[in-house]
Amino acid sequence: MSVMPSAGNGKITVPSILERKSVVSSQGSSPVKITCLTAYDYPTARLLDEAGVDILLVGDSLGMVVLGHESTLPVTLEDMLHHTRAVRRGTHRALLVADMPYGSYHDDSREAVRNAVRFVKEAGAEAVKVEGGERRLELIARLTEAEIPVMGHIGLTPQSVNALGGFRVQGKSANAADQLMRDARAVEAAGAFSVVLESIPRELAARITAELRIPTIGIGAGPDCDGQVLVIHDLIGMSFGHKPKFARRYAEVGEMISRAAAEYCRDVREGTFPSDEESYHSRSEQRGTLIPQNH
Ligand code: KIV
Repeated sequence: MSVMPSAGNGKITVPSILERKSVVSSQGSSPVKITCLTAYDYPTARLLDEAGVDILLVGDSLGMVVLGHESTLPVTLEDMLHHTRAVRRGTHRALLVADMPYGSYHDDSREAVRNAVRFVKEAGAEAVKVEGGERRLELIARLTEAEIPVMGHIGLTPQSVNALGGFRVQGKSANAADQLMRDARAVEAAGAFSVVLESIPRELAARITAELRIPTIGIGAGPDCDGQVLVIHDLIGMSFGHKPKFARRYAEVGEMISRAAAEYCRDVREGTFPSDEESYHSRSEQRGTLIPQNH
């Protein structure tokens, strides 16, 4: 069950995220950074929400880290709705943002609005995220007019992997940096409440952050953004393959799962699991009739 936003109940809302751009923390002079992590299921959402993460993003990274695809391109609208519903059930305080998957907003903008409305109505998302800068100006404005808050996403946009020729750092040349500045301004002008900056040089992210009035949420964009986002599977050591240098590991849950599964197999094979204490027992008057003859 979600918690409806009301003044003072601690629920993170779109306006409270916007305020974080300007509000100065009571302890010092720097604003409190926004924390965001991906979540794809109920238990993870519960744990992250209870740990105090500000924004839970049902990212279409789902396709790679949970569903085992090589990119985010095969992820469907139904996949995203299904996982957003699960995350909704575990989220009470955090702002819940759902990624619109590839193909769900690339054609007709009326269809894009209809798809975004499904995230709000059927899955309980409080905002959606779309990838792309200047070329999404009209779409972001349409979604905002339909009362759907939008998080932008520029820089390395994984849904453009084929056009970009791979997952690589963006905005390194002067021209590319200028384009990203224009993209950031366009996303803000269209009405987005925040923008993800993915895999761009720290210096460029700092410039965009200084110029925009909406918060920037960085991933591989250095420490000067207004907030940070990571894929939860990278953070807890449950992802495979290439590990980007910004993906700091805070736990080795993958190793814990492997060790626990190996110990379970050993105990079952050796007959030490389950023990008598881990077994149910018949009533004492029945026991004699149930014990097999050869025991
Ligand atoms: O899909 C995702 O997880 C994302 C974040 C990495 C920003 O877009």
